[in-house]
Amino acid sequence: MNHYFRVEHDEQQIAWLYFDTADATTNVLTSEALEAFDEQLINIAQTHPKGLVILSAKDGGFIAGADVKAFAAIASPEEAHKLILRAHDIFHRLEALSFPSVALIHGYCLGGGLELALACRYRIASTDPATRLGFPEVRLGIFPGFGGSVRSTRLLGHLPAMQLMLSGRAVSARAAKRLHLVDHALPRRQLKNAARQLINEQPPAWRPPLGKRLPGNAVLRPLVARILRSQVARRVRRSHYPAPDALISHWQKTAGQPAGMYASEARQVASLLTGETAQNLIRVFLLQDRLKGLAEKRDFKARHVHVIGGGVMGGDIAAWCVLKGIDVTLQDRAPEYLGRAISRAQGLFRKKLRDPYRVQNAADRLIADHRGEGIKKADVVIEAIFEDIDAKQSLYKVLEPQLKETAILATNTSSIPLEKLAENLQQPDRLIGLHFFNPVAKMPLVEIVTQAGNAPKLIADASSFTKAIGKLPLPVKSHPGFLVNRVLMPYLLEAVTLLEEGIAAVDIDQAATHFGMPMGPVELADTVGLDICLSVAEKLSETLHNPVPENLRHRVEAGHLGRKTGQGFYVWKKGKAQKEAHRPATEKQDHYADRMILRLVNESMACLREGIVTDADLLDAGIIFGTGFAPFRGGPMHYAKNTGIEEILSKLRKLEYTYGNRFTPDPGWEDFQT
Ligand code: NAI
Repeated sequence: MNHYFRVEHDEQQIAWLYFDTADATTNVLTSEALEAFDEQLINIAQTHPKGLVILSAKDGGFIAGADVKAFAAIASPEEAHKLILRAHDIFHRLEALSFPSVALIHGYCLGGGLELALACRYRIASTDPATRLGFPEVRLGIFPGFGGSVRSTRLLGHLPAMQLMLSGRAVSARAAKRLHLVDHALPRRQLKNAARQLINEQPPAWRPPLGKRLPGNAVLRPLVARILRSQVARRVRRSHYPAPDALISHWQKTAGQPAGMYASEARQVASLLTGETAQNLIRVFLLQDRLKGLAEKRDFKARHVHVIGGGVMGGDIAAWCVLKGIDVTLQDRAPEYLGRAISRAQGLFRKKLRDPYRVQNAADRLIADHRGEGIKKADVVIEAIFEDIDAKQSLYKVLEPQLKETAILATNTSSIPLEKLAENLQQPDRLIGLHFFNPVAKMPLVEIVTQAGNAPKLIADASSFTKAIGKLPLPVKSHPGFLVNRVLMPYLLEAVTLLEEGIAAVDIDQAATHFGMPMGPVELADTVGLDICLSVAEKLSETLHNPVPENLRHRVEAGHLGRKTGQGFYVWKKGKAQKEAHRPATEKQDHYADRMILRLVNESMACLREGIVTDADLLDAGIIFGTGFAPFRGGPMHYAKNTGIEEILSKLRKLEYTYGNRFTPDPGWEDFQT
C-alpha cells in the first residue's frame, strides 16, 4: 500500500486496483497520484493478470477530478502543456494494456476521473443516486484535457459527446448507460461480479453506429460546428467564456485524426488554463472551498427545524431543509397562510427528486404547524415573518421560553440590526442571523449575521448547519444591509437613477449583462420585489449617502411591486418581463455599466474597511455566490485589482465630478494593497 493505491490479486488472476488516497475523504488526480498510478500500471502489467479492475476505496466517490488547486499555481502555458502530455502518456499506457481493464464507478466520477475511466476498456456504474458522471471543465474555463475530448467523441458519437462536454452537466448512471458512456448501470452490490464477467467474456468494446459517427465527417463538421456554436451562444457570451468555442474549433479542426486531436487538446487546454478567465473561474472554485471550510465538523446536528413565516422566504427555506433530509415544522399566523408554501414545496420536491416515493417521503416530513407546536422540539428555529421590528420582537417574547436550551434561534431579516431585534430577549446573545437569498433553491450563499455577544460556538454551529443543508456560510457583521444587500443596493439604486434620467430599462439591463451579470439590475429589482428594495434602500439611505429615488417610492405606492404583482419597472406576463427585442450594444452602455459596477466596487471597499467581512477574498466570494456577480471576473475586489486601482480611482473621481459624492472614492482604497 502506498499513499494513493492498494492492489489485490484474486484467485481468478484479476488485479483489483483501489484508489485510496491516505488521510482524505475523496480521491483527486494530483500530479503525485497520477505518477503513483503509472507506477502501479507498470507493476501490474508485469504480473500478467487476466484483467484489471480500477475502483475507489472511498465511500463518497470514484474520482472527483483533477487537482484544481494545482491549476491555480501553474505559471505558464508551457508548464501546463508538459503536465497534460504526461497525463496523456499515462492514460495511453492504461488504454494499451494487453489485458482488459474495467472502471467500477460509484459516486462522483468527474473530469479527470471520467477521462481515466474512458481509457479503460469497459466501465460499470452503480445506479445509486450519488453516482454522477460528467465533464465540469467548461465551468472552470477549460475543456477535458486528459484525452477526454478524443475518447468521448469516439465512444459516444460526436454530438452526444460534444453536448456533454459543452454543458458541463453530470449525468446519472442510467443516463450514462443510455449514452453508452458506461457499459452497465447496476445496483452497487452487483458491480464486482459484473466486472469479473466482462473480464471473462471480453465482449467487443462499444462502437457508436454510423449515424453518430457521421457528424465527424470532414464535409459535415463546419455545419455541425455552426449549430453547436449557436447553441452555446444562447447560454454564454464568447468574450466572457472562451472555452466552449475553443472546444468546438478544436473538434472541428481535428476530429477523426486521433493523434492530431490529442496534440491539439493538450495545446488548447494548456493555453486556456493559464488564461485570465480560467484563472478567475478556478479562483471562484477555490473560494467556494474556502467558504465550505469555514464550517468545521461539529457535534451539532439539526434533525428538526422549525420555520416561522410561510411566505416567499420562510416557505422556501422550509422546503429546502426538507429536501436536505431534515424534518420541518412550518408555522404562520393561521392555516390558510400555509397552503401556498406547501404546494410550492411539493413542486420543488417533484422537480428535484422525481421518484414519486421520495417525493411523498419529503412531503410527509414538511408539517404545517400554525400553533407552533414544533418550537419545543426544534434544533434550529428560523424566523422569517414580515420585516417589522415590533412584529419580530413580540414573536420572540412568546418564542424564547419554549426553546430547547441547545436550539439555535435565527432570523432571516434582510436589514434590521440583530442588536435591535434582540433587545427584549432574556438572552439577547443567542439570536443570530441566517440570511438566505431569494430564490432559496438557486442561491448558494447564506450570510451568518453575527452580533458582538454571539458565542463562537453558536457561530460555528450555525455555519455547520448551513453547510449541512448544502449552502455556503459566510460570517458577516450585523450592520445595515450586512454584506450582500449593502453592496448590491448602490448598484440597483444607480440603475433606478438611470431610469429617472430617461434611459430605457432594457438598455440598462443590457449594459449589466454585457459586463457579465446574470440578470440586469432593473429586472432583478422587479424580481426581488420593489417593496423589499424600497425597505432596504430606506434603511441604507444614510449609510450609502443616497436619498431613496422617488421613482421607486411612487411605484411601490401605486402597488406596482414587480414580478409578483405583474408590474414593476417592467410589465410581467407568465413570470417573464416584457422587453423590447434585443438591441445592439452601444458605447453609452459601457458608461452605464461603469456607473453601476463602480458603485458596487466602491461599496465593497467600504465594507472591507469597516470589517463587515474579514478579507477581500471572502468579500468576493460573498458577492459572487450572493448576487451572481460575473464569476469570470473573479469578484469585485479582484476585478478592481485586475483593472488597476489607479484606473478605478480615476474613473470614480470623474464620475464624482459629474454626478456628486455618491461616487467619492472610499478612503479604504488608500491603504489597499494589491
Ligand atoms: P412574506 O410577506 O412573503 O412572508 C411573511 C410571512 O410571515 C407571511 O406569510 C405572514 O403571514 C407571516 N407572518 C407574519 N407575522 C407572523 C407571525 N407573528 N407569526 C407567524 N407568521 C407570521 O415575506 P418574505 O419576503 O418571505 O420575508 C420574510 C423575511 O425574510 C423578512 O424578514 C425579509 O426581510 C427577509 N428576506 C426576504 C427576502 C426576499 O427576497 N423576499 C430575501 C431575504 C430575506
